[in-house]
Amino acid sequence: MEPYILGITGASGAIYAHRLLRHLKELGAEVHLVLTEHGRQVLAFEGHKEMLDEADKVYRNDDLFAPIASGSYRHRGMIIAPCSMATLGKIAHGIGDSLLARAADVALKERRRLIILPRETPMHAVHFRNQAILSDLGAVIMPPNPAFYLKPKTIEDLVDTVLARVLDHLGLDHPVSRRWREMGADER
Ligand SMILES: Cc1cc2nc3c(=O)[nH]c(=O)nc-3n(C[C@H](O)[C@H](O)[C@H](O)COP(=O)(O)O)c2cc1C
Repeated sequence: MEPYILGITGASGAIYAHRLLRHLKELGAEVHLVLTEHGRQVLAFEGHKEMLDEADKVYRNDDLFAPIASGSYRHRGMIIAPCSMATLGKIAHGIGDSLLARAADVALKERRRLIILPRETPMHAVHFRNQAILSDLGAVIMPPNPAFYLKPKTIEDLVDTVLARVLDHLGLDHPVSRRWREMGADER
């Protein structure tokens, strides 16, 4: 089966990447990672370094000879979680000078699935414009804004309210998080 590509940048929220990797693995998928230098640092700082051993492959971000740098390489979709404003800006302007940015650029030009979880707060107009550019190019912009109406009890539950929607957008059947219609009448 073709893999999913998971890009990780230096925005806060490595837990989104870690749990997404685990959910995809539990669904039997192959997952390849590509991390920016700051992505590696923030991921380690937030306590998720072990996820690097859970992936099927981890590319070096300076390895522009890696297969995912080419439009001829087939994958099932790329997710960037979390996505920093710096990387968002790069991708929005076609700057493919790292493997992560190049792979995202390739996903856009090949009209492949590209899902971006941009994380910053507050945002200024350039952040919004870059998201609009990427949305116009076909990327799905999914800010990691958890849903509280599902009554999450743990941080993992909260994170999963976002990841359930990501898995939906990847077209996967999954048991992650509840859906609105699954809530009991007494909970509404
Ligand atoms: C602990 C920590 C948290 C950060 N959180 C964010 C964030 O949520 N969003 C963001 O855009 N940048 C954040 N940054 C700044 C980015 O890491 C920085 O802009 C970096 O250049 C991004 O590079 P990259 O896109 O190549 O990973 C954070 C930095 C640190 C050290």
